[in-house]
Amino acid sequence: MYKETILKKFEPRLDNILYILHELQDNNEQHYVSKEDLKLCADYLSVPYSFVHGVATFYTMFSLTPRGRNIIRLCDSPPCHLMGSGSLLDYLKNKLKIDVGETTKDGVFTLELTSCLGVCGVAPALMMNNATIGKLTPEKVDAILEERRKSL
Ligand code: FES
Repeated sequence: MYKETILKKFEPRLDNILYILHELQDNNEQHYVSKEDLKLCADYLSVPYSFVHGVATFYTMFSLTPRGRNIIRLCDSPPCHLMGSGSLLDYLKNKLKIDVGETTKDGVFTLELTSCLGVCGVAPALMMNNATIGKLTPEKVDAILEERRKSL
């Protein structure tokens, strides 16, 4: 089973818990950590399920509910706001026909907000999965979404 292969990449030590949760989430088609994954992690590290659940809910990078194949995280911090992220958020919501925290009906995109991505010099910015993209405009957003759809 591939999940056991994931676990065996790490020593069963508590300081590996974030790496394990990341791997489990990244290898889930719906980009989330399932209850089964939390249990596997807890058993592997010999800690209570409630401890692993607490860790997974503390960090916003983990989701305990299914998400789309692509996660869009639009920066919601003041410098990006000053550069127009608010109107880009409206643009994305209209374009994808979803609100923040939701997934498109076809399961391709999930829209989330995040705090500063550390690239304020190219605000407004977002992360598409693991890539940070700045100097956003509606046209650039269109191109990013199109590129992701074509890669399916
Ligand atoms: S405030 Fe958006 S990247 Fe820093």
